[in-house]
Amino acid sequence: MYYLIIHGTVYPVTTPRAPRRGGELGSQSIVADGAIVIKDGLIQALGPTEDILQAYRSPDQIFDAQGRIVIPGFVDCHTHLPFAGWRADEYRSRLLGQSYQNLGRGEGGIARSSRQLNIQSDEQVLTFTESLTREMLSTGTTAFEMKSGYGLSVQGELRQLALIQRLKSRLDQRITATGLFLHALPQEYTADNWVDVVIDELLPAAHERQLVDAVDVFIESTAFTPEQAQRFLHAAQRLNLILRVHSDQFSHMGGTALALALGARGIDHLDHLTSEDVAAFGDSRSVAVLLPAATYSMNHQPFPPARDLIEHNAAIAIASDFNPGTAPISHMPLIISLAVHLFGLTPEEALSATTINPAYVLGIEQEVGSIEVGKRADLLILDTDQLESIPYRAGHNPIYQGFVKGKQIR
Ligand code: NIG
Ligand code: FE
Repeated sequence: MYYLIIHGTVYPVTTPRAPRRGGELGSQSIVADGAIVIKDGLIQALGPTEDILQAYRSPDQIFDAQGRIVIPGFVDCHTHLPFAGWRADEYRSRLLGQSYQNLGRGEGGIARSSRQLNIQSDEQVLTFTESLTREMLSTGTTAFEMKSGYGLSVQGELRQLALIQRLKSRLDQRITATGLFLHALPQEYTADNWVDVVIDELLPAAHERQLVDAVDVFIESTAFTPEQAQRFLHAAQRLNLILRVHSDQFSHMGGTALALALGARGIDHLDHLTSEDVAAFGDSRSVAVLLPAATYSMNHQPFPPARDLIEHNAAIAIASDFNPGTAPISHMPLIISLAVHLFGLTPEEALSATTINPAYVLGIEQEVGSIEVGKRADLLILDTDQLESIPYRAGHNPIYQGFVKGKQIR
């Protein structure tokens, strides 16, 4: 049983070595009038339509893309799913002049999302989250990260991670799990105590039950210090977990230098990066993960120095940061538009930054992120033959037809 997509303008986004960095980000080769063979959910072949039709003479189904663009499915390497409710009232308070930091003290902010999560049943959380993942699929996200961080206790974090595993088995999208164990300080602890509990109890339990692929920490004046982060990241490194860091979102704390020194795969936010940090990113092993939906939703300045990073040969990825506080947006085509308009990426750079590079950040670059033989058949056929239409028609959903693991989305 095999399926052919023919007459596509195919952007395979292949690269000899992920992640793409510097000038490689924007160089896209195209297979004009290309065809793709899908078998058992995987890509079996890619080539000129004429050759593929010669070689595969009796396909079970043919999809004629009629010149439309075909790209790999989007990989969203930073979301705070699962969560269990919105905080639109906090958003309204911010419109009236309250600060995010102020709303986060006491009952609001991350603590609020934690309560919403912790009072709901597993089924309620799964139902709420699943409907969001369907929205994401409809706008082209075929792989994504989910994080804990709203559990805010050992049991709460383990439960959130267990829910991620249940979603992973229910959904066709490729999902990875990250333990964001240092997100906000649970009320019962001092910061140093909580770091001890995380290192001694939570991290080993999550690792032993195979609930995490990666760990993450929020370094910020309202969250954790680089020293606390370092203790935690060292412990995670000993378990061979992928390291991620929320750094330089609202202030400069030295988190990026630490994360670079530890070889974190992804260092995220980066709105307050210094020129030394930019230079150090250069040929490092770390990807600069920029989150334009958070920058936009928070009306935050300065912007992360995307062009500077690219000029210094850094690898960059673009992700949603999907969460009810700072980024209630999961729509990757819109996020590409924000990255192009606010951060100055080209459409071609944005394509690398939302496919192969985030796949690398998540450690799944052998499975997804490009159109290559043996990878998952996660493919998007756009309703256009011009790549720049994605950012140009901001807010429009350009997915004409998509495939996740070889299955049609619509
Ligand atoms: O990435 N920065 C910390 N965490 C999230 C926001 C979480 C929330 O407000 O619920 C972020 O922006
Ligand atoms: Fe985040």
